[in-house]
Amino acid sequence: MARLMRGALMAVSFFMVTMGFAVGEEKEVVTYEKDVKSIISKGCLSCHGSDAPTIEEFNKNKEGFKQKNKGPRMDTYENLMIFVNGTDTGALMRRLDDGKKNPNGKPGNMYLWVGKTDSERVENLSIIKKWVGHWTLKRKNEMTEEEIKLIKAPEK
Ligand code: HEC
Repeated sequence: MARLMRGALMAVSFFMVTMGFAVGEEKEVVTYEKDVKSIISKGCLSCHGSDAPTIEEFNKNKEGFKQKNKGPRMDTYENLMIFVNGTDTGALMRRLDDGKKNPNGKPGNMYLWVGKTDSERVENLSIIKKWVGHWTLKRKNEMTEEEIKLIKAPEK
């Protein structure tokens, strides 16, 4: 009987520990699908949506698109990742940074769009920072392999 009890207790505590891990983990992992997509969709897709140029088209005629207030497409995970960890690694971070750690205090020129109010911007930026995992204003060619590996930005 005692042995049975001990077995049952062990099973219960094992269950509680694994559950605890699962719950804890779920809280921490920020994903594109769950958290980031809606921020980008609300704040960015009016200029970076499916009617905007691809990065290749954009690069060929930057001035023309700027005048039309269109930036490169960021309407899907793959298109957004170009600016997070792709051909233009770090572009999203440089543009969205709030500038608080910058000597000149100037935010990136897309920070304005990350929320409608100051508090919304602070909150949404902190979500995006958690998602990216390694917030850096460096350009791709200034980063080490190890540093690039710290960028997470999971889709799901
Ligand atoms: C009102 C239109 C508009 C909105 C809204 C907007 N952007 Fe932009 N964005 C542009 C334009 C135009 C450019 C190109 C000119 C420039 O480089 O500043 C651009 C450039 C960028 C770039 C640099 C792209 C490159 O190839 O260098 C990034 C990254 C970016 N935006 C991210 C965002 C994010 C993220 C949001 C939402 C939080 C956002 N933008 C909201 C118009 C907009």
